[in-house]
Amino acid sequence: MAGRDGEERVVIRGLDSVVAGETRVSYVDGANGFLIYNGYNIHELAEKVSFAEVVYLLWYGKLPNAAEKESFRARIVSEMRLPSQVIKMIELSPPSTHPMAVLRTALSALSMFDTDSDDLSEEANERKCARLLGQVMTIIADLYRIRHHQSVLSPDPKLGIAANFLYMFRGSIPDAEEETAFDLLMLLHADHGFNASTFAARVTASTLSDIHAGLTSAVGTLKGPLHGGANERVMDMLDEIDTVHVVESYIEGMLNDGKRIMGFGHRVYKVEDPRAYHLRKWSERLCHRANQHHLYEISHRIEQIVMEKKGIYPNVDFYSATVQHALGIPREYFTAVFAAARTAGWLAHIVEQYADNRLIRPTSRYVGPWDQKVDPIEMPRKS
Ligand code: COA
Repeated sequence: MAGRDGEERVVIRGLDSVVAGETRVSYVDGANGFLIYNGYNIHELAEKVSFAEVVYLLWYGKLPNAAEKESFRARIVSEMRLPSQVIKMIELSPPSTHPMAVLRTALSALSMFDTDSDDLSEEANERKCARLLGQVMTIIADLYRIRHHQSVLSPDPKLGIAANFLYMFRGSIPDAEEETAFDLLMLLHADHGFNASTFAARVTASTLSDIHAGLTSAVGTLKGPLHGGANERVMDMLDEIDTVHVVESYIEGMLNDGKRIMGFGHRVYKVEDPRAYHLRKWSERLCHRANQHHLYEISHRIEQIVMEKKGIYPNVDFYSATVQHALGIPREYFTAVFAAARTAGWLAHIVEQYADNRLIRPTSRYVGPWDQKVDPIEMPRKS
């Protein structure tokens, strides 16, 4: 439809399939179910490298050698500390506030205590990336511990990045199996093309606002149930279905009521989400280990029924719920854990946006009225 200026304005609802920019960070091939981080297939990375190596890859465009890997790990771990004022703010947050809302606020507050915050030079941005990746994990871990009346913990200099996050959160050092599972979960969530929160981060960065602002936009965007918030709703659904025998009737009821099944469907993937493949395997293993095998069985049955009735596949959020649950993470923190992992990708995208920036500023089709006249409540101002 043409606007008043005669220009044709075609609206692509939800920017579906719109190519909004270039990136080397990651590629999502929705038709074939591939996810590529800077040239490497996620399946290969999942088998062979750690979360720390993937973060290095996303930021520096190459996998680290052994020495680079160790110094990068040690550097991020050393950054897992918060200014005391931000810890105080976390303490002051009302207990009912969702962890993602606390994370959004604490992250924004961090900018006030970071002397680099308004310095957008490459060197300052590099420092902030390392600092923020560590600090996001610490905000989430500290929030959990403060709310459970436990003292906040310092990172263990010997542990990996993901293992430290789990350690500072739960207070116990993960065993080898837990560490592998959690590290993989973080790796699988690290980046995913121009998804909604990454796009929000890039829009903010494109105004040449600061990195903290970009991350704050991203966290606010990830929070929604159509994006990262779905994993928490998956756990609610599993609670409502207490036995595998009622899965079919439950799903039928949901679909008949026009409701969405959380953790299913994807804007880009038309086949299986490659991240779900790995998380399904770990869900089975960890649920079994934690004597929660019924949760995996119910999940697997849901997957079969949704495929039968709607032909749609689980996305990353579906099995991530039971993996996190079996690792002892309470559901209200699931999305925040996703955010901690995705911070790696958000930071890579923000820096990439700065490096070749053009203000992201689309247009719209105006559908409001024209030629309205003001009927003043008060007498017109005299000029
Ligand atoms: N449950 C039931 N039906 C679903 C569905 C779901 N989770 N996801 C998509 N569909 C159906 C829609 O109802 C629609 O069916 P119709 O053509 O009969 O109307 C069709 O699939 C296409 O859905 P659409 O909303 O156009 O796809 P989208 O690209 O806009 O949606 C999501 C993508 C992620 C928003 C959507 O799949 C969803 O809401 N999923 C649940 C939330 C979730 O898990 N989010 C995490 C994403 S990683």
